[in-house]
Amino acid sequence: MSTTPTQTVLTARDLTRHYSVSRGLFQPSAEVRALNGVSFELEAGKTLAVVGESGCGKSTLARALTLIEEPSSGSLKIAGQEVAGASKAQRKSLRRDVQMIFQNPYASLNPRQKIGDQLAEPLLINTQLSRSERREKVQAMMQQVGLRPEHYQRYPHMFSGGQRQRIALARAMILQPKVLVADEPTSALDVSIQAQVLNLFMDLQEEFNTGYVFISHNLSVVRHVADDVLVMYLGRPAEMGPSELIYQRPLHPYTKALLSATPAIHADPNKPKIKIVGELPNPLNPPSGCAFHKRCPHATELCEQTLPELRLIDSRQVACHHVEVINS
Ligand SMILES: Nc1ncnc2c1ncn2[C@@H]1O[C@H](COP(=O)(O)OP(=O)(O)OP(=O)(O)O)[C@@H](O)[C@H]1O
Ligand SMILES: [Mg+2]
Repeated sequence: MSTTPTQTVLTARDLTRHYSVSRGLFQPSAEVRALNGVSFELEAGKTLAVVGESGCGKSTLARALTLIEEPSSGSLKIAGQEVAGASKAQRKSLRRDVQMIFQNPYASLNPRQKIGDQLAEPLLINTQLSRSERREKVQAMMQQVGLRPEHYQRYPHMFSGGQRQRIALARAMILQPKVLVADEPTSALDVSIQAQVLNLFMDLQEEFNTGYVFISHNLSVVRHVADDVLVMYLGRPAEMGPSELIYQRPLHPYTKALLSATPAIHADPNKPKIKIVGELPNPLNPPSGCAFHKRCPHATELCEQTLPELRLIDSRQVACHHVEVINS
C-alpha cells in the first residue's frame, strides 16, 4: 500500500464507551458514560492532540483506539478497515498497526527481561526475521531512540525515566505501526527531559510517517506537536480543529478557560484570566443540556436544557449554543 501524506490511517465515528458500575448490594448498577460520541480522522504523519481535564475520557478513548477495549457503539476504521466485525486474524494484524505508549513506561516493560529481548519480541511474534536480523533491527532502533549498544543486555530498572520512555517508544515503533497512541507520555518526566522525548517522538514520526494521537491534560505540551486538537469535556468533544486556530483564537468557553489556565500560553497580561470554577461533573450523574453549563460564565436556560451539537464555525467544530455571541 502506498503511504502518501494524505492517507487516512484512523477514522472514528461517534465512538462511545459506557461502563456499568455497581452501586452496592440490591442497588441497580449505574452507567458511566466515559466516552460519548467522538468522531475524527487522522492522516499518516499527522498528530491529533486530545486534551481535557482529568476524568474527561482521554484514556478511555485511547483504549478504544488501540483495541484494548471494545467501544460500546460507533465505528472505528484502521487504515480503512472496520474494526467491528473483523475476523480474529484481521484483528491481530490491526493490533499491530496501532501501538500505545503509556504515562509510566516502567509498567509496560517486563522487569525480568533484558531490553534487547523485549524489543526483539514483537519481531519474533510478527515477522519471519532470523535471530541475527532481529538483533540488527533492534540495534538500529535502539540507536535511533538514543540508546547505546551496551544497553541491549540491561534490565529496565537500570534506566532513567526518560530512557525507559525511549525504550517504550522503540518497542512501539519497531513494527512501524500506522498509528501510535501516546497517553500522557511525558507527564511523569522531568521538565528538562520532556522536550528531548517530545523531539524524539517527532523525529520518529517524520521517519515512519506514523499518525499520532497524543493525549495530554497540558495544552502547552502538545502545542508544538499537534496538527489538530480535540478538546474533550465529560466524554464529548467541546471543540476540535486545526491546532494553530484553536491556540490563537479558541471559541468554546471551555477551551478559552483551559488555555487561560496554562501559563506558558497565556502570555498576554492585558487579557483577563478566565477561571474554571467548580469541578468536572460526576459522569454517573451528568448535568442536563450542555455538560459545561454549571461552570460556564455565558450559560443560559437553553444551555441547561439542550445539548449543543458540534457545528462548523470558523474552520473548526464547536459544541456551544452561544459561540457566535461570545466571540463577536
Ligand atoms: N473500567 C472502568 N469502570 C468504570 N468507570 C470507568 C472505567 N474506566 C474509566 N472510568 C470512568 O470514566 C471516566 C473517564 O475516565 P478516563 O480514565 O478515560 O479519564 P482521563 O481523561 O484519562 O483522566 P486522567 O487525565 O485522570 O487520566 C472517569 O469518570 C472514570 O472514572
Ligand atoms: Mg487518563
